[in-house]
Amino acid sequence: MAKAKTTSIGLDAKISETLANELNTLLANYQLYYQNTRGLHWNIKGKHFFELHVKFEEIYTDAQEKIDLIAERILTLNFTPLHAFSDYLKNASLKEGKNISDAKQAVELIVDSLKTIIVLERNILKTAEQLNDEGTTTLLTDFITQQEKEIWMYSAWLNQ
Ligand SMILES: [Fe+2]
Repeated sequence: MAKAKTTSIGLDAKISETLANELNTLLANYQLYYQNTRGLHWNIKGKHFFELHVKFEEIYTDAQEKIDLIAERILTLNFTPLHAFSDYLKNASLKEGKNISDAKQAVELIVDSLKTIIVLERNILKTAEQLNDEGTTTLLTDFITQQEKEIWMYSAWLNQ
């Protein structure tokens, strides 16, 4: 029986490719999330301006770090991360959030986006587990734990 081909880090090559494609979809969504949050930081108006302007900067700075971690994980798996806006738009399910200045609408966009991202990550975890890929599993598990807590906090804010 022919031995399955493995990558430089000893993972099954075929399943690694599937995983890298899924991580590229996550990367594309994260780039949309990042840019949407920058837009919220710039365009937010009203009595919550100071609080949310700062919060959105915190969110997009965190997103920027995660974007780099996802892209570098794809490289570690021996594949190429998407790096063009046209590819991000083609591969993301999140939509562009334009001209949002209302606080409630802005925070709802964050909550909805995080939910989409978490569902995507849970699906990617299945592929990572199939590969016994501890690196990707740990990365995504940490993301999910943090994002679930964020959803609780932003939802609490919305119910004030
Ligand atoms: Fe700023």
